[in-house]
Amino acid sequence: MSNEVRPQEELIALPAPKTIGDALAAAAAQPPEPVAVAAVEPPPAEPAPKKRVRMPRATEAKGRAIVITSGKGGVGKTTVTANLGAALADAGKRVVVFDADVGLRNLDVVMGLENRVRMHALDVIEERCELDEALVRDRVRRSLLLLPAAQNRDKDEIEPEDMTDLVSELTEQFDFVLIDCPAGIEQGFRNAVVGAQEAIIVTTPEVSAVRDADRVAGLLPNDMPARLIINRLRPALVKKGTMMSVDDVLEVLRLELVGVIPDDREVIVATNRGNPVVDMPGSATGQALRRIAARLLGENVPIPDLTQRKDWFSNVLSKLNFSRADAKG
Ligand SMILES: Nc1ncnc2c1ncn2[C@@H]1O[C@H](COP(=O)(O)OP(=O)(O)OP(=O)(O)O)[C@@H](O)[C@H]1O
Ligand SMILES: [Mg+2]
Repeated sequence: MSNEVRPQEELIALPAPKTIGDALAAAAAQPPEPVAVAAVEPPPAEPAPKKRVRMPRATEAKGRAIVITSGKGGVGKTTVTANLGAALADAGKRVVVFDADVGLRNLDVVMGLENRVRMHALDVIEERCELDEALVRDRVRRSLLLLPAAQNRDKDEIEPEDMTDLVSELTEQFDFVLIDCPAGIEQGFRNAVVGAQEAIIVTTPEVSAVRDADRVAGLLPNDMPARLIINRLRPALVKKGTMMSVDDVLEVLRLELVGVIPDDREVIVATNRGNPVVDMPGSATGQALRRIAARLLGENVPIPDLTQRKDWFSNVLSKLNFSRADAKG
């Protein structure tokens, strides 16, 4: 018998919700669970069904399924997914981050969980294992779990209906299902979107990324709310006029802005170590990600104008009653 955790069983024993909102949601969600299990329990004489039970569609389920998408590759979808997962778990939510980047998975690496991955989403879809056997619990946060993608398979091998069913099943167990979408607009993108109820589009302030984000926004279902994260903003470059500003991006995309994340080399360091950026003390990037998580939870947290922030050197100078112009002479 291995020491692997059995996430599904343990989730049932999670601590009581922290906020009134959580308590109401939990109270509203609780009664049907035992009743539903009791009602569908097969008679003892019948063998246990091998095939996965088809769950209600995502729109009827209690959790929120959010796809993190972009069009252009390398703009920060996986980084955002992992960190929002951590921040939402810290807020007392049950969260699963679902790597839908079949063949190029790396959410497990970003979360430092690559050595714990045994099974993956395709194993669940093709009924080689149960869902709880494929879920991997985070090293630190007990209510954060990862559903890994298959590494040696192709995105086209998954049928959209299977993704819808799997995401629906996840929303039965989790408050948030964050789906890390592959780059591009092909089958992998369609599969990642099909089971979701909401979208977050990530872009960097570059013309090519913004154009791809615009294309992706147009490909989402009409009734799917889509919000925007601008990642890797460099305030100094915006001030110089060499990088698109938040307003420039919003002029093209016209989506609801849910957050702006500054560019920070430390993100790459943290990511390479498999640590969340939200855990980096004093990190402006980590704070920006936590604010986004709070907004997803409905909190009214203003989006600060990063270009108005003083850099470290200017802060020191202002404390000494100098300005940068004074310093230059
Ligand atoms: N705010 C940031 N500051 C600095 N580096 C960042 C930031 N966000 C992401 N990165 C870095 O950018 C690179 C790409 O990030 P990530 O893998 O999250 O993008 P992605 O959109 O998931 O890529 P892909 O399309 O290939 O899946 C990584 O090296 C990551 O550490
Ligand atoms: Mg990625």
